[in-house]
Amino acid sequence: MARTKRDFLRITDLDRDGLLELVERAAEWKLLGRTGPRPLDGMTIGLVFEKASTRTRVSFEVAAGQLGGGAVFLSPRDTQLGRGEPIQDTARVLARYLDALVVRTFEHEKLTTIAHHASIPVVNALTDASHPCQVLADLLTTSERFGAEALQKPGLRVAWVGDGNNMANSWLEACALLGFELVLACPSGYDPDAALLARCAGRARVVRTPVEAVTGAHVVNTDVWASMGQEAEQGRRERDFAGFIVDEALVARARPDAIVLHCLPAHRGEEISDAVLEGPRSAVFDQAENRLHVQKALLESLLACD
Ligand code: CP
Ligand code: NVA
Repeated sequence: MARTKRDFLRITDLDRDGLLELVERAAEWKLLGRTGPRPLDGMTIGLVFEKASTRTRVSFEVAAGQLGGGAVFLSPRDTQLGRGEPIQDTARVLARYLDALVVRTFEHEKLTTIAHHASIPVVNALTDASHPCQVLADLLTTSERFGAEALQKPGLRVAWVGDGNNMANSWLEACALLGFELVLACPSGYDPDAALLARCAGRARVVRTPVEAVTGAHVVNTDVWASMGQEAEQGRRERDFAGFIVDEALVARARPDAIVLHCLPAHRGEEISDAVLEGPRSAVFDQAENRLHVQKALLESLLACD
């Protein structure tokens, strides 16, 4: 049976309806648990990870298993990638064995090169530019609290506090498609991608103080100040992000029913306080669980026959 090659490299690889359908299907998978259909029967996905991972790796491996398929984890340490085999050759060879590739790497261009050369679906498991699978889980978590319809309304206010990084960029893509309001508080010099911001046409904006972003917000979202690959900048970033901690005083500015999201891993006492992470507004562990459900929906849709 024929299968069209569909990649998921960024949120905007989907259209608005496709994104909403995926979130809705993920909610169904959450109810089905391990009892659902097995659309990956006989299939194997490969995970090529050049950066560390707990959630993404484990949730994709478990997702493949629960869908009736298998998963192979490949790190550069153990494969010829680490010894310099060209990524183009690796992509073409892996496509002969596997049914999909899930890739975590540094430069986004490396991911697009792999997608170009692999004849099977390729999924972005995080690059320096974006982290779309995480934002799928964030959208499911948000819809669980405020309803799926809210995602499409400017009345839903999402605050981003901190670095305009890969996560912020994927949230901007979701904003461009769905229509909620996104206010990003970033220190000067740490803005998200300007072209993505421009695509949100009045629905997203950058401000310079966390209070401005969080006041009246339904969702308060943050991430580490130094992402993977930026460890050498930790000291400078700690100085530049002073005052950008999501603590109880800041969350008190949000709506009383606001939720707090963090993709994890978190640095307690830096970008988020322990009290907020462990507090009643925190949805971070539901958010982490939702990685599994959205990725089951994603794999199912990418590997469906025409
Ligand atoms: N949130 C997330 O992607 O976590 P991992 O780095 O553990 O995969
Ligand atoms: N921005 C973080 C996300 C980790 C899941 C990073 O890239 O390290």
